[in-house]
Amino acid sequence: MGSVSLKVGDGTARFKRASVCSSAVNLLMLFSVIITNIFAFYAFTYHPTKLHHNHNPKNIALISEKVSLILREIDSSQKKLAQMEKEILGYESIDLSRPNIANELKEFLAHHELPLGKDSRTGITEMMASVGHSCEKSMDLLSQYMSYKVNGPCPDDWILGQKLILRGCEPLPRRRCFSKTIPKVDLQPFPVSIWKNVSEKSFSWSGLGCKNLACLNSKKLNKDCTGCFNIVNGYETQIYVKVKGKNDFLIDDVLAMGNGGIRVGFDMGGGSGTFAARMAERNVTVVTATLNADAPFNEFIAARGLFPLYLSLDHRFPFYDNVFDLVHVANGLDVGGRPEKMEFLMFDIDRILRAGGLFWVDNFHCYNDEKKRALTRLIERFGYKKLKWVVGEIINSSGKSEVYLSAVLQKPVRV
Ligand SMILES: *[C@@H]1O[C@H](CO)[C@@H](O)[C@H](O)[C@H]1NC(C)=O
Ligand SMILES: *[C@@H]1O[C@H](CO)[C@@H](O)[C@H](O)[C@H]1NC(C)=O
Ligand SMILES: *[C@@H]1O[C@H](CO)[C@@H](O)[C@H](O)[C@H]1NC(C)=O
Repeated sequence: MGSVSLKVGDGTARFKRASVCSSAVNLLMLFSVIITNIFAFYAFTYHPTKLHHNHNPKNIALISEKVSLILREIDSSQKKLAQMEKEILGYESIDLSRPNIANELKEFLAHHELPLGKDSRTGITEMMASVGHSCEKSMDLLSQYMSYKVNGPCPDDWILGQKLILRGCEPLPRRRCFSKTIPKVDLQPFPVSIWKNVSEKSFSWSGLGCKNLACLNSKKLNKDCTGCFNIVNGYETQIYVKVKGKNDFLIDDVLAMGNGGIRVGFDMGGGSGTFAARMAERNVTVVTATLNADAPFNEFIAARGLFPLYLSLDHRFPFYDNVFDLVHVANGLDVGGRPEKMEFLMFDIDRILRAGGLFWVDNFHCYNDEKKRALTRLIERFGYKKLKWVVGEIINSSGKSEVYLSAVLQKPVRV
């Protein structure tokens, strides 16, 4: 018998597969659909013409009684069905009975009944801890992560936490230990802070290959960060305000396309936060989502007085629908894997962007023509207005041609 994990609401569920029973459910579902339809047909065709000729209140009362009977029947069979499904799937939380599970994990995941019973507003009866469903796949690592002294210092293990996140164990469980503090020296007031170095001692270097900024700057950390920690005299000081090629758009040009309505934005995988920095100078608040892949991105962004969001791009964005005026992405859009993966991401971007808001695809590297066409088709399906669309070719240092797409797209109003 296999077992699948699934995240339900803010809790965790484990589902056991039971193939024999599922055909029974299918049959029952079919049956209930047929019955429901017959009832509905009966309800809506019940001597409707007679109603007009014969305004007998007795008849009307009889009909409404029948209708409510039918509705009750439908409701109860739907409830029965849901209950059966739940039983067959074996809905339960992460299996905490297996050996070697850290006590703190059990403690964190324990359900807590609401002291006053069912909450009338939300309908919930117990509080559940929020933890990613894929944690189930990495229970050894998770248990290691949850092994610490309560009220003591947390182990220096952020690398372990990030490893779990990258395996889909997101969100991580909360812990009851004190994380290491790092004195933040020479922080500058905002907005001076945006372009000022702070002491390298302000960042945690544990577990990283580089131990200083000079080392980070000598590396290509990812496609959107080469020397991106040099905010004093590197290329980072020019990006978005000077163009290098036709795929680069000026931040002021893009803002102008928003007709002054760009106030809050979201940058996915935004390196050291320079996009948010340039936006902050224009009084636009941008949240920068980034993990700490090989560099202290989050701390660095925060030291600049900007808003870092420690989140993998596989996570549903923790924002409500239609809240952002602008979403900016460079190569963070390249989620790899099956095309459905990018679709899920695109739909989530679309969800958080308001109608009339701008989606800025910035120097997205299309590894091949097929990828470019797939992305183009996907974008076109969303019906965005192409305010800017530039496909550029760059001959890279090994003499090979690389195709880049830059675009500014406006989300339509959908009815
Ligand atoms: C700021 O940091 C960069 C490395 O990122 C370094 O090259 C530069 O000298 C530093 N500038 C100051 C004023 O400390
Ligand atoms: C940003 O806001 C400040 C304070 O309201 C204002 O003085 C400044 O001119 C604004 N800057 C821009 C670029 O709009
Ligand atoms: C140049 O582009 C080719 C083809 O996309 C790629 O395989 C190669 O790694 C690139 N070289 C560099 C230095 O980026």
